[in-house]
Amino acid sequence: MLVGLLLIITFLCLVDYWAKKSRNEMMKNIPTVRNLPIIGAVSELASFNAENLAWKFKSFREKYGKAYKSWVAHVLVLNTSDPKHVEAILNSSKHISKNSLYLMLREWLGQGLLLSDGSKWQHRRKIITPTFHFKILEEFVDVFDQQSSVLVEKLKPKSDGSTVIDIYPLVCLMALDIIAETAMGTQIQAQKDENSRYVKAVNDVTDILALRFMKPHLALKKIFKLFKPKLFNKQLEGVLYMHLFTNRIIEDRRKALNISKSQQNTINVDNQGIKKRMALLDVLLQSTTSNGEPLSDDDIREEVDTFMFEGHDTTTSAISFTLRAIACHPEVQEKLFKEIRELFGDDLDEPIRYRNIHELKYMSCVIKESLRLFPPIPAIGRFIREDFELYNCTIPAGTNVILILWEILRDPDIYEDPMAFRPERHLEVNPKSNSFSYIPFSAGPRNCIGQKFALLEMKCVLTKILRHFELLPLGEDVHPSIKIVLRSKTGVNLGLRSRVY
Ligand code: HEM
Ligand SMILES: *[C@@H]1O[C@H](CO)[C@@H](O)[C@H](O)[C@H]1NC(C)=O
Ligand SMILES: *[C@@H]1O[C@H](CO)[C@@H](O)[C@H](O)[C@H]1NC(C)=O
Ligand SMILES: *[C@@H]1O[C@H](CO)[C@@H](O)[C@H](O)[C@H]1NC(C)=O
Ligand SMILES: *[C@@H]1O[C@H](CO)[C@@H](O)[C@H](O)[C@H]1NC(C)=O
Repeated sequence: MLVGLLLIITFLCLVDYWAKKSRNEMMKNIPTVRNLPIIGAVSELASFNAENLAWKFKSFREKYGKAYKSWVAHVLVLNTSDPKHVEAILNSSKHISKNSLYLMLREWLGQGLLLSDGSKWQHRRKIITPTFHFKILEEFVDVFDQQSSVLVEKLKPKSDGSTVIDIYPLVCLMALDIIAETAMGTQIQAQKDENSRYVKAVNDVTDILALRFMKPHLALKKIFKLFKPKLFNKQLEGVLYMHLFTNRIIEDRRKALNISKSQQNTINVDNQGIKKRMALLDVLLQSTTSNGEPLSDDDIREEVDTFMFEGHDTTTSAISFTLRAIACHPEVQEKLFKEIRELFGDDLDEPIRYRNIHELKYMSCVIKESLRLFPPIPAIGRFIREDFELYNCTIPAGTNVILILWEILRDPDIYEDPMAFRPERHLEVNPKSNSFSYIPFSAGPRNCIGQKFALLEMKCVLTKILRHFELLPLGEDVHPSIKIVLRSKTGVNLGLRSRVY
């Protein structure tokens, strides 16, 4: 009996060894994370969670170097922050498929731009790119200005110089209002109506996906349903409601476009004769698939949902962590405030304008530095479909690759004194850095399509807040928690004191 069992185990280990042999051979130059036969590194990886991932990244780099491979059962995973690997992978126009970590996002986002690949992705990317033209972004500044004013009003009662404010949830509601109005042309009043069902659904689903992200077994829909039936149902309800909501908006907009077409006037002018923003939704409604048919409602919905998700969670993280960083560096804040005051003057009722925003040079550096130390998306993944030769290894087909942006952006070989928050470093050209090493927005053909949108939004919102308040380093410091998007276990805290001019 025992002998039989031993024989079976020995046999399985041999099969396992042979199945992995050629892939191990191709990657022999890359160190392997502590590995057991058959299960691979699963026992080691079980100790990873959202709150310790940032430290694990660091300790693994110290232990194994910038790249290491691990076996998760029979799947090979390469985690790398080697700039040469990252550049080769991100610059490739062939290896653009997302890996299995993204799978569960499909339950909400379908096959939208973030998750699709092949010709579908190419076609969609071409349709959507013009929506981020600077002429269109320019028109969004109004929305950024108005929505950040709402936030300022909400913050005023707390600006006594001693109240600790977790800014993250407040920024999140503002970011939702902004993306709904700019992408869908719809006001959802997230900041004014905190009980909005749509907003609750977005937050619930984002939180549940964030939890599943760190528990690979929960990423599988069937297992998730089995182990966490309550959460499963909550996600299902949330997604259903969001899909209904988006569908209704699409239908309304389709009707409006149809009416204005039949009346021979143009949709770009609203009833006061003001030029209407060409929202993402309008572009999609007027586009066709590669064989000339209009996009279906489902096609449009997955894109709108993708932008609702990608366009609010990331900027929330970016704005919150930047505010905290500014609060903790008074000398940076002083310089920044001076730059803003010189450009915008002392009249707080004066709205923010596009042309002024462009002259905020030091602000750009502060944002760059904050995105370097606190990248809203700390890691991205690719699935390699065909053997891919890098400078010192060949990635076998079927490998999951994780590019650890968090580590590249803190790499001491690229950044001098990498842990220091020093915006001035971005004033000079860094000879050790290139467009594939400073990559909070990724790089190459599959980079962030919303980069310019995000930077403009950040500049407007930060300007607005800094004109009204002095930020104070109150409350507990941030404790990075990587839940798809970078968050903080302790909240993103600060205090506010009203500015007196
Ligand atoms: C500071 C804010 C932001 C950061 C740091 C950021 C970062 C990123 C990164 C790293 C990727 C690559 C993901 C991957 O390869 O898996 C990405 C893709 C993407 N981002 Fe952003 N993003 C931000 C804001 C936005 C905004 C505001 C929008 C929309 C308005 C947006 C829309 C997208 C979309 C649609 C993709 C997928 C593009 C494609 O695959 O073709 N992002 N973003
Ligand atoms: C290949 O690159 C990885 C990651 O930088 C490094 O750890 C490894 O030592 C390199 N191997 C050789 C043989 O250069
Ligand atoms: C590789 O990165 C992924 C994604 O961040 C993480 O979940 C995984 O635990 C990492 N693997 C190793 C061996 O560090
Ligand atoms: C990226 O790829 C293109 C061709 O696809 C090539 O011309 C270019 O030199 C590459 N850039 C880098 C930095 O490797
Ligand atoms: C568009 O308008 C025409 C008549 O003006 C109508 O027959 C048609 O059903 C409308 N289509 C949609 C999708 O509403």
